[in-house]
Amino acid sequence: MAFPIDRPRRLRDSKLLRAMVRETRLSVSELIEPLFVLAARKARRAIPSMPGQYQLGIDDLLSHCEASLELGIGAVILFGLPAKKDPLGSGGYARDGVVPRAIRALKRALPDLAVIADVCLCEYTSHGHCGIVRGGRLLNDETLKLLAREAAVYADAGADVVAPSAMADGQVRAIRAALDRAGHDGIPILSYAAKYASGFYGPFREAAASAPAFGDRRGYQMDPANRREALREVALDIEEGADMVMVKPALAYFDVLSAVKRASPVPVAAYNVSGEYAMVKAAAARGWIDEPRVALEILTGIRGAGADVILTYHARDAARWLKEGREA
Ligand code: PBG
Repeated sequence: MAFPIDRPRRLRDSKLLRAMVRETRLSVSELIEPLFVLAARKARRAIPSMPGQYQLGIDDLLSHCEASLELGIGAVILFGLPAKKDPLGSGGYARDGVVPRAIRALKRALPDLAVIADVCLCEYTSHGHCGIVRGGRLLNDETLKLLAREAAVYADAGADVVAPSAMADGQVRAIRAALDRAGHDGIPILSYAAKYASGFYGPFREAAASAPAFGDRRGYQMDPANRREALREVALDIEEGADMVMVKPALAYFDVLSAVKRASPVPVAAYNVSGEYAMVKAAAARGWIDEPRVALEILTGIRGAGADVILTYHARDAARWLKEGREA
């Protein structure tokens, strides 16, 4: 059967019918807001390449998160900016480090907000790589010990979820074992399973001052050309104990997201990364695109491609726009 019997427009012509047959729904409950925490108490520094995003001291983080929670955002993911960096990234697993302090403060003030702690060392190492480096290469198994320690410290501080992003082989197993040993068998792991070596992380590295001092991350993050390998990474991480898996970045990897969604028995997250946010902001600032419309269209697309949850710097804006009844 075809035209004139079939007329898909019949279901499009009214707003009510469109809403009824909508295949993909986007709501604030699926959004996770990434935040950058500074060691200071009071501080709010704008991040130039990410308009609307700030490095926040702990007091400012608290007031920021209170407002996010009021907008309906249920979860944040924290990235720490330590006062000092060293070759072993000790600021990442210090008990009085910036992230454990922020977690304790947040859980005390806003117990209903889920706090996810990113587990990586690149924000804490003086060379900017995601673990221990020797001769220009990341030492995998030595790095695992530090990541495991870091995850346990964050769980001890009260993190609701830990999210390893270093792309070291075996990191999920090492972290699961360390969490269980420390009595945290109830704390889930959101694994950055398919994390590509991407140019889209540029603004984040400015925000976290975490650009590698030499070389790049291609020795541990994935080749953007590889699709099947993403499924392998996901399968390995689930075998090692991942409770959720992530694809990152989002926009250039919709095919990966949809394949992972089909293959994964656990929920799938997508990271709508800093460069993706920056592009929307930059075009909108020139009046070239309608930001709310485009941002909601992107988030709806990411959900449609297979993401159950989305990490996005547009979380707050999207919460507001959805409240106002705006559509993609
Ligand atoms: C840490 C980490 C990075 C991002 C999230 N966790 C940076 C990187 O791998 O260089 C990037 C997020 C973004 O661009 O928004 N390893």
